Amino acid sequence: MTFYEADRRSRGVSEPEIEPRSAAQSEQWIERMGHFLTEDPGGCWVALDHDEEVVGFAISQNRGKLWYLATYGVLTGRQGKGIGRRLMDAVLAHADGRRGMFSSTVHPGATRRYRLAGFTLHPQMRMVGTVDRSTLPAVGGLQDGEASDLEWMDRLDEALRGAGHGPDHAYMLRTLRLVVSRDVKDKPGYAYLDGRGRAVLLAAADEETAQGLLWEALASSEGDTLVNCITTANHWAVDVGLAARLDLGQEGYLAVRGMTAPAPYLASGHFL
Ligand SMILES: CC(C)(COP(=O)(O)OP(=O)(O)OC[C@H]1O[C@@H](n2cnc3c(N)ncnc32)[C@H](O)[C@@H]1OP(=O)(O)O)[C@@H](O)C(=O)NCCC(=O)NCCS
Repeated sequence: MTFYEADRRSRGVSEPEIEPRSAAQSEQWIERMGHFLTEDPGGCWVALDHDEEVVGFAISQNRGKLWYLATYGVLTGRQGKGIGRRLMDAVLAHADGRRGMFSSTVHPGATRRYRLAGFTLHPQMRMVGTVDRSTLPAVGGLQDGEASDLEWMDRLDEALRGAGHGPDHAYMLRTLRLVVSRDVKDKPGYAYLDGRGRAVLLAAADEETAQGLLWEALASSEGDTLVNCITTANHWAVDVGLAARLDLGQEGYLAVRGMTAPAPYLASGHFL
């Protein structure tokens, strides 16, 4: 409900109506929270009121040298009273000075909190629309990924953002389709695609590989598609989206501290 209300308030007039989460999406959310609680419980905090009802939460994780915030919210009626600040203090103490990264909404309380905590806010673009299939190029050198790929994928993550995804890779491998470029020397890359062919995380050693992976995602998309979390360091993705006749828009920020915005890289909103 917190995110439904916030998304409704920040919706642009030309954007589609915000729908409440489906039962299946709620189930996935709960499963993901279980994963975070198992892997790094010390980064997961909730705020309770006097009746022991949960009124806010901040779920963060440490992975090696990197800390990330997976989700953060306070019930609509309880916002602006300092609950968010205390939750943020708790998860930042858990970060213990690590470099940090997360995807932020445009909510004024959120952006205020993040900047005051020392994060740099990189505006993000996103591309939406239906792919014009006559624009799809032939892309070679890609395969479906498997568990044995995770080791080099973690090394690539480390070069791009300072830490591997570790157990998050295993989680994504179970729930998403993995496409990899593993055969061309010095040009590794991977992308996770959801059931509708949307790239939910993409990382590559060079822009050409990244573009090939994004074309593969667009080729497997069905109906309206979305490419999001595109920071200005990732205009290679804008070029692919425009070539596929998608429309360019803006959405939220990538917040980072102690690091630059990774590239070529499209962050996952959940696992960064
Ligand atoms: C972001 C959020 C978790 C912050 O929690 P909160 O309990 O409202 O936070 P606080 O009360 O500690 O306030 C945060 C700061 O922003 C300010 N603020 C809060 N709501 C605001 C609003 N609607 N407009 C402007 N400023 C606001 C507060 O005054 C405070 O600043 P201060 O400490 O310097 O006075 C909460 O507002 C929320 O759930 N928003 C919707 C969901 C969302 O966008 N989550 C972030 C996902 S990245």
